[in-house]
Amino acid sequence: MTARIIDGKALATKIRHEVAQRVLALQAQSIQPGLTVVLVGDDPASHVYVRNKALACEAAGFKSDVLRLSSDTSETDLLALIHQLNQDDTVHGILVQLPLPAHLDQHKVIETIAADKDVDGFHVSNAGLLMTGQPLFRPCTPYGVMKMLESEQVELRGAEAVVVGASNIVGKPMAMLLLAAGATVTLCNSKTRDLAAQTRRADVLVVATGRPGIVTGDMIKPGAVVIDVGINRNSDGKLCGDVEFDSAAAVAGAITPVPGGVGPMTIAMLLVNTLEAAERRLQQP
Ligand code: GUN
Repeated sequence: MTARIIDGKALATKIRHEVAQRVLALQAQSIQPGLTVVLVGDDPASHVYVRNKALACEAAGFKSDVLRLSSDTSETDLLALIHQLNQDDTVHGILVQLPLPAHLDQHKVIETIAADKDVDGFHVSNAGLLMTGQPLFRPCTPYGVMKMLESEQVELRGAEAVVVGASNIVGKPMAMLLLAAGATVTLCNSKTRDLAAQTRRADVLVVATGRPGIVTGDMIKPGAVVIDVGINRNSDGKLCGDVEFDSAAAVAGAITPVPGGVGPMTIAMLLVNTLEAAERRLQQP
């Protein structure tokens, strides 16, 4: 193995420590950052993610609430709850865990969250601000990836960046952030004709498809920086990413592991976004 391992867990710990320090400064001015997470239904993975988010909030000194709603919650009731949270001054960030049960319109739910409390950065006005170069909240996972690249001192200006996966949550905002940092960006999707031809050009390769092993070592340019956003379980029940780690690590210059790579960074950046929402509140008259 030749690649340097990018330790997302260590960087996330450092960021969470910095957040906790800034929380103390806010508390001295009688503000405690508050995040409310809304979880609808019984998806087991979502329950684990939400519990980890709540634990991280509490460790950083936030006020943390998790509202667990049954899977048959009506859209009217969910939207009414979000309106109520929009009005609540002790709530600085609102996060509705996705995916939602099929009878709920995800787009409508996200658009109901006040844009200045949308710490996921999924609201169309936050997506538009990101696209036009004036981001308010950057979506947590791509934001975490940018922090990892920054801490590894990866030169993005003029670099060839290839993003595999074009979701609203990761791929599209990831492409926007890399573009804003001066990279030449290629955004691949499930219809991309020759994926390997694209990935082999990448100085920086970000993979976010949810398909284990979609990228293998022979698809990677020697020395490239490889960021694996996937969190999957293999046939033995072990966590694995979208990149075949062993073959990729033999070629790449640096690579993120799964677990311990991007995952912890997503939570750290959720704390940063919520903290900044609370800090902005202080600046309002
Ligand atoms: N489900 C998977 N990832 C995310 C995320 O970053 N935010 C929300 N709200 N739901 C998710």
